[in-house]
Amino acid sequence: MSNPLIKMNSTKMLTTLERLGFTEGDIVESILITRDEKGGFNPAPMGLIRDSNLLEVRIFKSSNSFKNLINDDKASINLTDDPLLFHKAAFKEDLGETPLITDWTLNGSDTTIYAEKHSGKDFSENRYSFFLNPVSIKITKKEPTVFSRGRAQAIESILHSTRIKFFHSEDRIQEVKALLELVDWCFNVINKVSHPDSNALKVVNSLKELFEQWGVDY
Ligand SMILES: Cc1cc2nc3c(=O)[nH]c(=O)nc-3n(C[C@H](O)[C@H](O)[C@H](O)COP(=O)(O)O)c2cc1C
Repeated sequence: MSNPLIKMNSTKMLTTLERLGFTEGDIVESILITRDEKGGFNPAPMGLIRDSNLLEVRIFKSSNSFKNLINDDKASINLTDDPLLFHKAAFKEDLGETPLITDWTLNGSDTTIYAEKHSGKDFSENRYSFFLNPVSIKITKKEPTVFSRGRAQAIESILHSTRIKFFHSEDRIQEVKALLELVDWCFNVINKVSHPDSNALKVVNSLKELFEQWGVDY
């Protein structure tokens, strides 16, 4: 049986967002899906900050997600702690495949929040703040997930690697070096706590291959 789409009034939505872990003012991580001009879905990991009933996302103006949200009003916010989903969404172009998406839902995610663009403003020279209004929620996975240091550090290392790719393309060697040290620290934790067949270790191995592909010395 498929999971129901729950439309909510604003009080119920606020309670549900809080229960899902959207603490007011905290940055929490998700995979945001937007739509390009041809109607194709574009997943990308994005931090979200709850501001009362709205969710703010600060997007680099160089990204596909920025262009898509300027041109389109719809988005979905997909919740997961699977580092492989974050990895495939962040590096879809380098890996040559986009994670599967069915009707705004990222396959394998725990929950999808369907949202509409409410407003937007410049956050900085490079980033733009979109405020999204969550309208309905589909909760696919009802059981809680145990906290995993390996999964958390794998997601952290993907975040650093998105910046490594950018700084490397701009020849900003010192910034690349500093981030590689952080990635190394993440990899050490993952190596200590994660099983060799885990998605966290798959991310480590794939990131090492991507560094080589980009010409980054790890
Ligand atoms: C955990 C995590 C959080 C991220 N948060 C943001 C964010 O808040 N804003 C942003 O512009 N990029 C963020 N990124 C980087 C983008 O996901 C990355 O640059 C991605 O390739 C952009 O894809 P797109 O060009 O298809 O939009 C984050 C990456 C990770 C792994």
